[in-house]
Amino acid sequence: GQAAKGEYDHFMKKEITEQPTSLAQAIEGRIDPQAGRIDLEAFDDGAFADVGSVQLVACGTSYHAALYGAFALRDAGIQATAVLANEYSVAAPPVDDETLVVAVTQSGETADTLQALRLADAAGAETLTVTNVVGSTAAREADDALFIRAGPEIGVAATKTFSSQVVMLTLLAQRISTDLTGEASVDLESLLADLSRLPDKIERVLEESNAERIARQYEDCVSYFFIGRGLGYPVALEGALKFKEITYEHAEGFASGELKHGPLALVTPQTPVFAIFSGQEDEKTLKNAEEAQTRGAPVIAICPDDHPAVEVATDHLSIPDTRSELAGLLANVQLQLVSYHAANLLDRPIDKPRNLAKSVTVE
Ligand code: G6P
Repeated sequence: GQAAKGEYDHFMKKEITEQPTSLAQAIEGRIDPQAGRIDLEAFDDGAFADVGSVQLVACGTSYHAALYGAFALRDAGIQATAVLANEYSVAAPPVDDETLVVAVTQSGETADTLQALRLADAAGAETLTVTNVVGSTAAREADDALFIRAGPEIGVAATKTFSSQVVMLTLLAQRISTDLTGEASVDLESLLADLSRLPDKIERVLEESNAERIARQYEDCVSYFFIGRGLGYPVALEGALKFKEITYEHAEGFASGELKHGPLALVTPQTPVFAIFSGQEDEKTLKNAEEAQTRGAPVIAICPDDHPAVEVATDHLSIPDTRSELAGLLANVQLQLVSYHAANLLDRPIDKPRNLAKSVTVE
């Protein structure tokens, strides 16, 4: 049967709150921080030794996880790109038999994503899906599957599955790097130890978040902007997508450095700017945020308490300290909560936004 909401008013809130557990399930048995080992069950050591490049295909929130994953792969020295699945038939990068195409899909049933998977297969690529649903079409059709084990997600707006997808792709990046070069691209003991601490850090965000106060503070604004750089960029896109999906308010995500190349024309005191600090060139993102602030926009900094942005910004959403590879995940939880509370204040049907479906089975 369908999972129950229990004590929660909405599945979305339940699923946001479940993230410490769902993430712990995603990594359980797959990481050994002491030994610096990643075990992706179906894949023996060396399984990825002939991967020349990686293409990630996905839609919606899963596309943002794919963008995050592409950063993680490139950071690990692997040629990688994320492509919107619905653009794949007209805009696929070249494929050969050393191309690994990864379909990132919560449901495993999104028509656009399945179509891209089939095209990649026909072109001779190796295929893999990162999915939540065992027995889904993607899981059956791809050469291999990695399951994120997030448990059922009922809210139409994806939340917990994003975090688990990102973590799985982060593990995959290090596994591929290890198979290709004989070693991980980072100090694996330290990355895995930080990953194992992530569930507790998310718990802290959930317990201490002031997102409801922030949502109330900016309730009557006109547009909501989200900026980030590097790994903060997909989080900015995801923050904006979540916000527009469930509040019906106008929201956009930008790469921090792009703000000055157009969007700045929209900035007024009625357009709060949520700035994600992922630890990658934060000083530049802070300058970009200040350019908006100079035009009257309130800036809400999402960063640790001791970060220089706290002094400058109008408001602050706090996240615990962690490495830059994982900071975006903590920021994303804060943004999920902001969207949830903003939608709640507007009395929106949070779990079933108008015109949207959990899984879109038409192209
Ligand atoms: C729909 C949902 C989104 C989801 C997207 C991709 O549009 O409303 O929340 O991100 O499909 O779904 P998938 O199951 O492929 O991750």
